[in-house]
Amino acid sequence: MAELRGSFGVARNHLLTRWFGTEDLHRLEVYESKAGGYAALRKALLDMKPADLVNEVKTSGLRGRGGAGFATGVKWSFINRDAPGPKYVVVNADESEPGTSKDRYIMENSPHMLLEGIMIAAYAVGANQAWVYIRGEYDGPHRMLVEAIAEARAKGYLGPKPMGVNYPLDIQLYRGHGAYICGEETALLESLEGKRAQPRSRPPFPAVKGAWARPTLLNNVETLSTVPWIINNGGAAYVKFGTEKSPGTRLMSVSGNVRKPGVYEVELGQTFRHVIMELAGGPPEGRRMKVFWPGGSSAPVLPESMLDTHTDMEALAAARSMGGSGGVIVMDDSHCVVKAASRLLRFYAHESCGKCTPCRVGGDWAVRTYDRILANEGSQVELGILERVADGLQNGRCLCGLGDSAGWVIDSTFRHFREEYEDHALRHTCKVGSHA
Ligand SMILES: Cc1cc2nc3c(=O)[nH]c(=O)nc-3n(C[C@H](O)[C@H](O)[C@H](O)COP(=O)(O)O)c2cc1C
Repeated sequence: MAELRGSFGVARNHLLTRWFGTEDLHRLEVYESKAGGYAALRKALLDMKPADLVNEVKTSGLRGRGGAGFATGVKWSFINRDAPGPKYVVVNADESEPGTSKDRYIMENSPHMLLEGIMIAAYAVGANQAWVYIRGEYDGPHRMLVEAIAEARAKGYLGPKPMGVNYPLDIQLYRGHGAYICGEETALLESLEGKRAQPRSRPPFPAVKGAWARPTLLNNVETLSTVPWIINNGGAAYVKFGTEKSPGTRLMSVSGNVRKPGVYEVELGQTFRHVIMELAGGPPEGRRMKVFWPGGSSAPVLPESMLDTHTDMEALAAARSMGGSGGVIVMDDSHCVVKAASRLLRFYAHESCGKCTPCRVGGDWAVRTYDRILANEGSQVELGILERVADGLQNGRCLCGLGDSAGWVIDSTFRHFREEYEDHALRHTCKVGSHA
């Protein structure tokens, strides 16, 4: 993979990437001596009670960075830490969402920051064992984590008595099975258990019945990597960043037609104009921005005219989209939206696990309909089919969010680019005539 650029910790509001770029930050010794690493774990184990940790994360207002944006502290409080028997922490490092590479950026730059967050979370919810389910193709990050875990074991931070406290902790790695669906939390748990990755019906939710039917906290890499900062500085300090309902910062991986693709730490509430035009340098010379996906390929698209939309979750919901996985995909005016949507639908149809009918059948219908439209065989009938298929995929009709995502691609490109669809389906022309 290409070397990623990014925002190395220079700004006041770089909470996660503050120390990125420090030589050998991935080594435990450097993480501790230069970046104040493992101070939060020490504080958590020696000075705080598990309930205090949960409350601190609740106070921070941190929301999951994996896609759904669920309140992290609230999720932690769902685990009954006093229930008898084992509880687990499972870390979602599958990162297969097109356009998303921010978890990789964390694992490659500061693997110990993630490990520290996992250990604090495990202590908070009463778990002694954690797994990191890491995307199978992520060789580099996997290697970094293998080395970091070995260092943490050698230092005794993982083991029977971390920081001298009688609370055994261990973290193991599990390499993912190479399908997008493996990142969906319940499919991930199936895969971790050695089964085919297909989503489970909910309830019960993983907090009640997760890995091996035990109470399980499942969080994204970035979510957990934010925890050491919160424990060090306090939840009240975290809410000073971002907006009232979407506090803090998040990493955004900006890709596509921009001059400086890369991963940037952005304070929530900044505009997408700032992220795309300033941080990522805007479209190439002579091109105009046309459309962007604000939260990975699964988030409904927004047209260039909505560049001033703010990055917080409420503003995105008001714009009928979402922050999703933090992957910002930018397309300029040399590309045809209908072709891009068709390409994405092919992805979702291919990645459908087939367990639920709307997703299995709907994705396929959409692909065949797009094929007819792009072969200049479309008519009003095809446009009607796409609209009905999009409707059939959304609003909880599928077992998991994969179906919704496929539906949103159709729905949102229709909403903002109806004319391009009509050009293709009714007039059999493409004003862009591109290679999208
Ligand atoms: C098809 C699909 C793929 C997903 N892939 C990922 C992924 O790669 N990484 C991730 O953290 N969350 C992914 N999610 C979201 C997870 O199901 C889950 O909401 C998240 O890991 C919870 O962690 P958080 O609360 O820290 O965000 C995916 C969801 C769906 C529907």
